[in-house]
Amino acid sequence: MYEQLPVPYGLVRFGVAPDHPEVKNCIEKFEEVASSPRFLYIGNVTVGRDVALKSLKPHYDAMLFSYGASEDRKLGIAGEDLKGVVSAREFVGWYNGLPQFQALEPALENGEEVVVIGQGNVALDVARILLTPVDKLRHTDITEQALETLSRSRVKSVRVVGRRGPLQAAFTVKEVRELMHIDHVQFEPINRSLYPPDIKKLPRVQKRIGEVMLKGTPPLSSHSTNSKSWALDFLKAPEQMNASSANSRQLSSIDFTHQTFAPDTDPFSKTAKVLPTEETSTLPASIAFRSVGYKSTAIPGLSDLGVPFDEKLGIIPNDQYGRIINPSTGPGSLTAGHVHGLYCAGWVKRGPTGVIASTMDDAFTSADVIIRDWESEVPFLNSPESDKSTGLGWYGVKDEVIARGVRVLDWGDWLRVDEMERLRGKNVGKEREKFVEVEDMLEGAGFVNFSRRG
Ligand SMILES: Cc1cc2nc3c(=O)[nH]c(=O)nc-3n(C[C@H](O)[C@H](O)[C@H](O)COP(=O)(O)OP(=O)(O)OC[C@H]3O[C@@H](n4cnc5c(N)ncnc54)[C@H](O)[C@@H]3O)c2cc1C
Ligand SMILES: NC(=O)c1ccc[n+]([C@@H]2O[C@H](COP(=O)([O-])OP(=O)(O)OC[C@H]3O[C@@H](n4cnc5c(N)ncnc54)[C@H](OP(=O)(O)O)[C@@H]3O)[C@@H](O)[C@H]2O)c1
Repeated sequence: MYEQLPVPYGLVRFGVAPDHPEVKNCIEKFEEVASSPRFLYIGNVTVGRDVALKSLKPHYDAMLFSYGASEDRKLGIAGEDLKGVVSAREFVGWYNGLPQFQALEPALENGEEVVVIGQGNVALDVARILLTPVDKLRHTDITEQALETLSRSRVKSVRVVGRRGPLQAAFTVKEVRELMHIDHVQFEPINRSLYPPDIKKLPRVQKRIGEVMLKGTPPLSSHSTNSKSWALDFLKAPEQMNASSANSRQLSSIDFTHQTFAPDTDPFSKTAKVLPTEETSTLPASIAFRSVGYKSTAIPGLSDLGVPFDEKLGIIPNDQYGRIINPSTGPGSLTAGHVHGLYCAGWVKRGPTGVIASTMDDAFTSADVIIRDWESEVPFLNSPESDKSTGLGWYGVKDEVIARGVRVLDWGDWLRVDEMERLRGKNVGKEREKFVEVEDMLEGAGFVNFSRRG
């Protein structure tokens, strides 16, 4: 299960690549909201573990779930558990300082060839971090430990492999372009026949990506030393991961089954379907990253509130505007099946796709819907007159949570952690040096840790 750390921002702190400027915009918006006297930040409290949902319910009129996606999808193929097969989610969490993945130790010094499976933006983030000269990353808030490991990396080639074609890839143009502009990194030209003869006729988004991919990178000068390369392989589905002959626990290569477009599909459409062929091939890999998407799970206690969870889609069922729907609830509100007073937003509402901007837009929609429902006087949580909300909100459970030994941070506590991280960063010439242990975050906030005193 995901947990709420002492610090805010979710994936914006622990997932988004530290050299991406949209992080700043999102944080500024969050800070603007946090400056409202009606806003309460409750850090280091994991709902479903430190406080039960059914304990919260009597004290609120409405609740909104926006707890993201804490797992990643698996491939379900043989050898996926070999040493050297790394989840992209864990890797990005590691270099971004997520406490739970600090022991990851990706063996980047083991070999030169890396395979990334999946062709979304996370896959390209992984490739970019592996290929970017470490000195270019030093000014970002990638942790010192990650920088140290990256500086010892022997990786020279990264192949990002997709099971469909270039027009079905999930990445966006900005991320491909970033990879084309890394010094001394050459892109292996892609097969022109995967594109229609006139790419100008493609929809705008695919056309722009196509232009960037077909242009590729300029040839490296013959004097280039330490050059690296990256490639996009299409129409290859991973079949199995193979161990090395010297060490039966260590990854050494990956087998792929080649795919072809289904006869009834347009190979140039975004939704084109593929079928396996008889052809196979093997790619050497000292390390492989599985990057085939994230997955939300149910937090404990959802069912106590009558909230279903769609395990297949990994979402809380909703009416697309954010009202949580339970078909078994039946009519009775303005929206049939709406579980009164309960809403959702973000990846747990829509599934694990979307950039910060679209996730924020979508959250604004959920907030608007709550206001509209309130103004329309539809029932909320605890609506019947006999069972009205206590109106206490967090203060209805605070003592119980603290009595359990949970050290709870407010917004002022976080600002102290923030200031200390910035100070630590200043000492090493970057914007911030994150605390990577929960205890250090808590000490930064001013909590005394008796167990650490001598
Ligand atoms: C690796 C990666 C890189 C990305 N890079 C970019 C990028 O460069 N640009 C861009 O625009 N978008 C990027 N995105 C997309 C962006 O991060 C998401 O759209 C956005 O963060 C999703 O927001 P969310 O609120 O649904 O989930 P999250 O950001 O995951 O937030 C969920 C929050 O809920 C908390 N939580 C979870 N469980 C509990 C619980 N039980 N109790 C209390 N709290 C809980 C978590 O701690 C977290 O704070 C990236 C995504 C990934 C995975
Ligand atoms: N810079 C940014 O803006 C940025 C950075 C990172 C992430 N994000 C966003 O975060 C979201 C999540 O990104 P993501 O990369 O984790 O997920 P994603 O965009 O859903 O991409 C997942 C990729 O994995 C492939 N895949 C799925 N199952 C597979 C299997 N069994 N075998 C082989 N390939 C498989 C998919 O191919 P199919 O299409 O064939 O299923 C797809 O190429 C996206 O919306 C992304 O745009 C944005």
